[in-house]
Amino acid sequence: MPTITFDGQVAECESGDNLRRVLMEKSLPLYSGVAALIHCRGMRTCGTCAVSVEGEVSPMTKIEHWRLGFPPHKRSKTSANNLRLACQCKVLGDLKLKKLQGMWGSRVLNETDH
Ligand code: FES
Repeated sequence: MPTITFDGQVAECESGDNLRRVLMEKSLPLYSGVAALIHCRGMRTCGTCAVSVEGEVSPMTKIEHWRLGFPPHKRSKTSANNLRLACQCKVLGDLKLKKLQGMWGSRVLNETDH
């Protein structure tokens, strides 16, 4: 049973569970600010469910790859920060997650470009 560590909180789920669904069910802070109200509900279009992932999840889908390279996301930052769209990931092992700054969760502290 995989363990997810996120923002100092720990949750367990079944292998193969959708990461977004797990985080929502456990009331973990997936969305930042107004994104909590206006996200696409897992339809792969908004990009606000981005989280930095350390651990084993399913391979990136084509649409996830596209969305994480589409503004305000930037491919270079996506790769450097191990960003994934939670709505597109299946949990395959223990995970450590980190939500970056900004509405899209793609900004590290001290950046000002979005
Ligand atoms: S919830 Fe919108 S892209 Fe994942």
